[in-house]
Amino acid sequence: MASVTSAGAIAAASMAMVAALISGLLVYKKCFSLSLRKPQEIFCRDMTVDGLIGAIGNTPLILIKSLSEATGCKILAKAEFLNPGGSVKDRVAVKIIEEALESGDLVKGGIVFEGSAGSTAISLAMVAPAYGCKCHVVIPDDVAIEKLQILESLGATVERVRPVSITHKDHFVNVARRRASEATKFSQGKHDKEAKKTRAIDSLPNGHVSPDISPAFVFPNDCKGGFFADQFENLANFRAHYEGTGPEIWAQTGENLDAFVAAAGTGGTLAGISRFLQEKKNDIKCFLIDPPGSGLYNKVTRGVMYTREEAEGRRLKNPFDTVTEGIGINRLTKNFMMARLDGAFRGTDMEAVEMSRFLLKNGGLFVGSSSAMNCVGAVRVAQLLGPGHTIVTILCDSGMRHLSKFFNPQYLSDRGLTPSATGLEFLDVR
Ligand SMILES: Cc1ncc(COP(=O)(O)O)c(C=O)c1O
Repeated sequence: MASVTSAGAIAAASMAMVAALISGLLVYKKCFSLSLRKPQEIFCRDMTVDGLIGAIGNTPLILIKSLSEATGCKILAKAEFLNPGGSVKDRVAVKIIEEALESGDLVKGGIVFEGSAGSTAISLAMVAPAYGCKCHVVIPDDVAIEKLQILESLGATVERVRPVSITHKDHFVNVARRRASEATKFSQGKHDKEAKKTRAIDSLPNGHVSPDISPAFVFPNDCKGGFFADQFENLANFRAHYEGTGPEIWAQTGENLDAFVAAAGTGGTLAGISRFLQEKKNDIKCFLIDPPGSGLYNKVTRGVMYTREEAEGRRLKNPFDTVTEGIGINRLTKNFMMARLDGAFRGTDMEAVEMSRFLLKNGGLFVGSSSAMNCVGAVRVAQLLGPGHTIVTILCDSGMRHLSKFFNPQYLSDRGLTPSATGLEFLDVR
């Protein structure tokens, strides 16, 4: 009897051991096959690329597991923050410069002028030397000091001007346009006599130009002419996405997606991608997500841009009441007008802040304010369409560009924007 008992005990013990081993193996497989990338899964782009320009674009399309699990939709995001200049604007800078060189509006050795406080200026400053050109950026003088430092480190000359309305002749965009034409005249010897007396920009420390310096200071002696990049109205911006980002998304999803959503600054990204995708398959739904203070939501949903009082031209200061950067506008740009949209959502600053922290905690994605707003848009589209759909959006830049504001606890607390969500309850996802 005893031997039978001990044999039974041994059998039971061995069965328990086998069961434990199997369940251990299953747990191991579950944990590690999810988190570890097998060698054969390593994704390589072309083995080598042609210089800096060759490294722009062909960004990965990331499956955002946390948002996909929460919504029942496949939510994919184009990782534009992985471009060499750190944003989606690298593509635009390349396209603007290449088209201008091709048309002869810009020549090698010429200066690319842009009025921009953000990513486009950084991308232009980085890309211009790759084409043998220089870059001059006009920015409002209240822009974060880091941006000025980055631009100067990239070798651009930077001109800081007072922030005024876009209708004012000295708005930074208008100054940039004027400087481009002055530079062209200067290179053709048509500058006035006063200009001859001025020093060349190269001799200034860091190339920085303060607002009270005469216009002619911004031109080097060997200036070969100027070209105004004009990201808002130049349709090369749209084409960068129509010919690049859109086709990449189409290929990376295996030509199988239901919707695209993004916020708009110039509108180039939304327009280029929405138009390309809808021409490929016209039932792909395209949406705008609009931050506070922007008039585009009204334009898309009601056909009216703004009330008379809200018109940008009537305001003296920046009209946007949002902590997000690079998105939202109160005028219709040529680029935005190329978009094909099925609808729009409003996003709040609180939602964008909460989303950025959710993405960070649930998958380690450290993205900027416009990317977070785009992900808010992706969840809104998922709620509208219901589970089972594939939705694509854009991760425009990294959180590293947003340390002093969007990722600064004090800055957020001063504005009542301290994040507190534990999940996606701020978007009614439980
Ligand atoms: C960080 C960032 N995200 C998004 C956008 C919006 O992209 P688009 O100008 O193509 O509408 C911009 C535009 O400047 C930007 O700088």
